[in-house]
Amino acid sequence: MPKTRQQNQNSLYLSPVITIVIISILSPLSLAAQPSKFRRAPRFVGKLPHLTEPPQRQQRQQQQQYRYETRYFEQRLDHFSFADLPTFSQRYLINTDHWVGPNRLGPIFLYCGNEGDIEWFAVNSGFVWDIAPRFGAMLVFPEHRYYGESMPYGSTEVAYQNATTLSYLTAEQALADFAVFITNLKQNLSAEASPVVLFGGSYGGMLAAWMRLKYPHIAIGALASSAPILQFEDIVPPETFYNIVSSDFKRESASCFNTIKESWGELVSVGQKENGLLELTKTFHLCRELNSTEDLADWLESAYSYLAMVDYPYPSDFMMPLPGYPIREVCKKIDNAPDATSILERIFEGVSVYYNYTGNVDCFQLDDDPHGLDGWNWQACTEMVMPMSSSRDKSMFPAYDYNYSSFKEECWNDFNVIPRPRWITTEFGGHVWELF
Ligand SMILES: *[C@@H]1O[C@H](CO)[C@@H](O)[C@H](O)[C@H]1NC(C)=O
Ligand SMILES: *[C@@H]1O[C@H](CO)[C@@H](O)[C@H](O)[C@H]1NC(C)=O
Ligand SMILES: *[C@@H]1O[C@H](CO)[C@@H](O)[C@H](O)[C@H]1NC(C)=O
Ligand SMILES: *[C@@H]1O[C@H](CO)[C@@H](O)[C@H](O)[C@H]1NC(C)=O
Ligand SMILES: *[C@@H]1O[C@H](CO)[C@@H](O)[C@H](O)[C@H]1NC(C)=O
Repeated sequence: MPKTRQQNQNSLYLSPVITIVIISILSPLSLAAQPSKFRRAPRFVGKLPHLTEPPQRQQRQQQQQYRYETRYFEQRLDHFSFADLPTFSQRYLINTDHWVGPNRLGPIFLYCGNEGDIEWFAVNSGFVWDIAPRFGAMLVFPEHRYYGESMPYGSTEVAYQNATTLSYLTAEQALADFAVFITNLKQNLSAEASPVVLFGGSYGGMLAAWMRLKYPHIAIGALASSAPILQFEDIVPPETFYNIVSSDFKRESASCFNTIKESWGELVSVGQKENGLLELTKTFHLCRELNSTEDLADWLESAYSYLAMVDYPYPSDFMMPLPGYPIREVCKKIDNAPDATSILERIFEGVSVYYNYTGNVDCFQLDDDPHGLDGWNWQACTEMVMPMSSSRDKSMFPAYDYNYSSFKEECWNDFNVIPRPRWITTEFGGHVWELF
């Protein structure tokens, strides 16, 4: 789920195993609630840093286990008008090894591609691969438009040129792509009667849930994993996400939570000293000299958020190579450092579990994508308006109050677009549970 404004969004709640446990026995904390010294909203997910890159070497190896064929399907750019627009080629991955075929009504499991290269999701969605043999199911992974190789206008440069070329990057268009695609695929295979079940994680999970609502005649069910379909408008309190991330740390150790919570003020005060930025550059082994403490804060916040999203009980390599229970490992580093260790040195030791678990990193690069004008940022500035705040007591992140006006200004500056914060709930619902 974003950088200045991109923060708000999230996407990757992905993890089939994330259990969201909100601990109610919060130890009383008397940390002075410091108003945030940081200009920006906390950085949220949604922007998955590595998603737009092709799968790494390690994942290529995994692909030996995840065998699929790559195919392309011609799609309309705009499903909702009759304008004479160019078509584009949508990539999809398919595996029919276990499919029992149309005559036995072999099911089709469709993973709803999210905001990144589809191969990356395919090789990190073990669940559908595990269950396909049991159900005699076919697996298909259509890629989301404007991501990976499924780029309209023939290139990322043109597709991401301006608000006009980006205007076809919406959830509705993506769902229509999936619907048209699966209908056509079934026809080609004479499998019209085969049931379709949708899967997805994070934003892909949102798409799975919404597709089941919008196209009930196409899919008989959906498994939406870690899908924040209620993170809109006023449906849940805006503090929810950061409170949950923080409680994941707190349940490992209250002192870990407290050290992280205190570190933001420490960061600012060291940064303000003479040569303070240089000192921080050294403490955190950065490749280039730090220009502002905010950049470092963003980098730390990202690590904590992603850690909560991939806090799997087994070693994994989705965002980064990590041990099982990575938050526990981070907190051990923070808590168990020798007594004389400063707060910021503890923080460095802790985040090194996330950024340098392999021990192969020579120095840290903070700005993977400083301006981040990527697809998710566009989506966050148009439909995916997810209010996010960081509370003064339950969150270990710098306190931050969501401010729609400043969010809107940033979207205008970045994309010349005005967000539609009520559109998702109008289009897909969310407020009135009783109706479901
Ligand atoms: C947006 O970019 C496209 C493709 O380069 C171009 O044809 C169009 O004129 C641009 N529109 C605006 C409003 O700048
Ligand atoms: C179905 O077959 C047609 C004709 O060969 C082809 O153009 C189209 O891409 C196929 N559909 C899918 C989803 O592969
Ligand atoms: C700090 O600013 C300088 C000059 O603009 C730039 O070259 C350098 O890369 C920046 N450092 C970081 C860590 O972004
Ligand atoms: C990464 O870990 C290795 C092994 O502990 C260490 O030598 C190296 O300095 C670390 N890199 C950074 C950037 O801290
Ligand atoms: C919200 O942002 C707007 C625009 O940047 C600003 O004028 C306003 O003071 C902010 N509101 C609060 C409560 O900070």
